[in-house]
Amino acid sequence: MSDQTRFTLDDVVSLAKRRGFVYPTSVIYGGLANSYDYGPLGTELLRNLRNLWWHEFITTRRDMIGLDTQILQHPETWVASGHVGSFSDPLVEDVVTHKRYRADHLIEAWLEKHSDKLSEPVAVENMQLPDMATFIAEHQVLSPDGNPVTEPKAFNLLFETSIGTVAGEKSVVYLRGETAQGIFTNFKNILDSTRVQLPFGVGNIGKSFRNEITTGQFVFRTLEFEQAEIEYFFNPAQTNWQQTLEDWKQAMWQFVTHTLGIKESNLRWRQHTDKERSHYSQDTYDLDYQFAFGWKELWGVAYRTDYDLKQHQEHSGQSLEYTDPHTGEKFIPHVIEPAVGVNRLFLMVLSDALWQDSERGRLVLRLSPRLAPYKAAVFPLLKNKPELVAAADEVYAKLAKKFAIVWDDRGNIGKRYLSQDEIGTPVCLTIDFQTLEDQTVTWRDRDTGEQVRVPIAELESRLTTMIE
Ligand code: GAP
Repeated sequence: MSDQTRFTLDDVVSLAKRRGFVYPTSVIYGGLANSYDYGPLGTELLRNLRNLWWHEFITTRRDMIGLDTQILQHPETWVASGHVGSFSDPLVEDVVTHKRYRADHLIEAWLEKHSDKLSEPVAVENMQLPDMATFIAEHQVLSPDGNPVTEPKAFNLLFETSIGTVAGEKSVVYLRGETAQGIFTNFKNILDSTRVQLPFGVGNIGKSFRNEITTGQFVFRTLEFEQAEIEYFFNPAQTNWQQTLEDWKQAMWQFVTHTLGIKESNLRWRQHTDKERSHYSQDTYDLDYQFAFGWKELWGVAYRTDYDLKQHQEHSGQSLEYTDPHTGEKFIPHVIEPAVGVNRLFLMVLSDALWQDSERGRLVLRLSPRLAPYKAAVFPLLKNKPELVAAADEVYAKLAKKFAIVWDDRGNIGKRYLSQDEIGTPVCLTIDFQTLEDQTVTWRDRDTGEQVRVPIAELESRLTTMIE
């Protein structure tokens, strides 16, 4: 099999829309910019991603527990965390069209075209607002429409809304900009209500919102998205942070390459520069994936020190100290934070799995069977033969108790295979006349196209092995 074909983002988007993975939101009203709903297959794939993440990082680890926290938190949360003050991107506006852009993105685009005009290489990630302003002025960086842009200014990404309190009064709240803060603000609850001891981690999956200046690139960067975040708490006097960061990098790599089956050649690590790091971090690495539009951050891991717990202790007046059960020492734990966007995992697995089988003239989504929306498709060979339909019904009902299974009786078998290949179903099971005689079905493999006879009694165990 050849892995040579590189697909464009349009190829991925087209398959996703055509086969019910992703739909543009509110399409009957003309759509809503950069907003997407997940169709029947996309919903299954997202659930599989979440469940695999939860299983690997929470369920199977003794040192991890899970939480499910609110999108709306007390507004002081975001003051304490630093988001109200410094959660911003550099905004410029096209002076003619008034379209908004990220200054760093415009400079990156300029550098891609004109880097030969510079005597020394320029690292955009190291630029602060005044550096960007100077660069834009000196090199006359223009908007994509060819117009001058305004001087860059900091634009806060937090979504602000309000809730009614007493009649006629409203108070400001923010849609959370990260799921992480719900973990920090529950730290005391966790210590008081569970028996955890350091080091331990807390995972949280849910929606976050950012008023991103530049979106696009499909579900890669949207205003509403889902995060799966972990705060791993430890005593810095006993646990080496560099080693803990390294352990988490390995765990992330293992999840992406082994559990999700992503090609290693499409992955790389990148350490943040001093200027680029978030306000709370002492060291950060990005696990980048080579998307159709270039190497981009998939998953970040940061050493957040005791920044957040200290801030919340100060702003809330509540002690967020941990007491060592052996020594009685009281201190604020430090954290390592692996934080990933579930929608970015989604775009990565679709992009990585797409394969043009030129030998057989078919498009195949070679998803890991663990991820596949349907683990098997069940077909009666002919839909006008009641005895075949009844036998297929039985197989379907038996397997559907354990696995996500799909039924298809439309068109000829060849077309049904092609249709399942495109949505990543690893196995097609055909119930034919031989089934009625010997209780076997045709098991057809998605990737090789090979067909073997398998007893109905063995289907469950073979499918279980396939997704282990
Ligand atoms: N708590 C740390 C934090 O939020 P981040 O790097 O800003 O760090 C973590 O976000 C992950 O969330 C990113 O690596 C990315 O996968 C995802 N993410 C961030 N902004 C996103 C957006 N606008 N759309 C989709 N995913 C996003």
